[in-house]
Amino acid sequence: MGSAGSARERLVQLLKDRGFVSGTEIGLRLGISRGAVWKHVRALREEGFAIFGSPRRGYRLGDVPDTLLPPVVLPFLTGGFGRPYRYHPVTSSTNDRAKELAQSGAPEGTVVVAEQQTGGRGRRGRSWHSPPGGLWFSLLLRPDVPPAETQTLPLLLSVAVVRGIEEHLGLQPGLKWPNDILLGGRKVGGILTEMSAETEQVHHVVAGIGLNVNITSFPPELETTATSLRIQSGGEVSRARLLGVLLAVIEEDYRRWCRAGFAPFHAAYQERCSFLGKEVVVVAAGEVLTGLAAGVDAAGRLLLSVPGGGIKRLSGGEVTVREGDAVAAGSGHR
Ligand code: BTN
Repeated sequence: MGSAGSARERLVQLLKDRGFVSGTEIGLRLGISRGAVWKHVRALREEGFAIFGSPRRGYRLGDVPDTLLPPVVLPFLTGGFGRPYRYHPVTSSTNDRAKELAQSGAPEGTVVVAEQQTGGRGRRGRSWHSPPGGLWFSLLLRPDVPPAETQTLPLLLSVAVVRGIEEHLGLQPGLKWPNDILLGGRKVGGILTEMSAETEQVHHVVAGIGLNVNITSFPPELETTATSLRIQSGGEVSRARLLGVLLAVIEEDYRRWCRAGFAPFHAAYQERCSFLGKEVVVVAAGEVLTGLAAGVDAAGRLLLSVPGGGIKRLSGGEVTVREGDAVAAGSGHR
């Protein structure tokens, strides 16, 4: 959005902090003419902001719309993640946009968001239902670690997202290994990490995070397996504020992971795993395995206690709990 964008963000912030502010004062504080102030006000109104104007008192901000537009989100960013911030009303997949930016040299912390994705992608080649009202974003990371170390990154990100939701909304999501986020036994979010690396060096990782935030109904194929934060919390959630919280928690946890690996997060991850101690079926590399989910090790592998004794350590796969609940029915967005 360039300098117009930053003036607009500062204008929103100024109006948020105060009641009425005169056009003259806004112009002075932002270092722009009154005509330019008016242009920004008009553009913001077009984007959905309720800005009231009184000839004698100036401008006042009404309710801020639940959009992910830069002037709405940027005031909620407290760290470096989220800058640069790329916004799309509609795009095929934010992961694809983030990969393009990565290839053209965008820095770590770049975030791409979309109100809606037309080709949202999930793990294991599935599609990801991405209507308006969700939080669909991709974060560009450039970890300076050997490629093999990145296998715990999706797990780290999922604990960070869960912690962010806990702190911000007081909900208690669970995790389904490796990185499905569950509420009430149904899937509320997922993470798709895509890496570009050579044998020794990681070029970049695109971490695509999808959360069903204010979605109130799902298509028939997801009706019994998906849920949203709004359904679970009983109220509308500010996606902009939530994005700010999530990026702050992710940034802090990611920096620690870069220094210390997954070990400091291992206990927090396992505590939130909703299927440990249960009989599960795991589909991994075309093989169907059954056993007891005994834990997740410090390298992020699922420990499966198999019939006849012995533990298998699985690096990837799809877990299904052998019970008649929603998770057992499968939880992906297909
Ligand atoms: C999963 O299968 O659980 C992972 C879902 C990841 C969805 C997110 S939404 C933002 C980003 N863009 C995509 O196309 N996918 C990820």
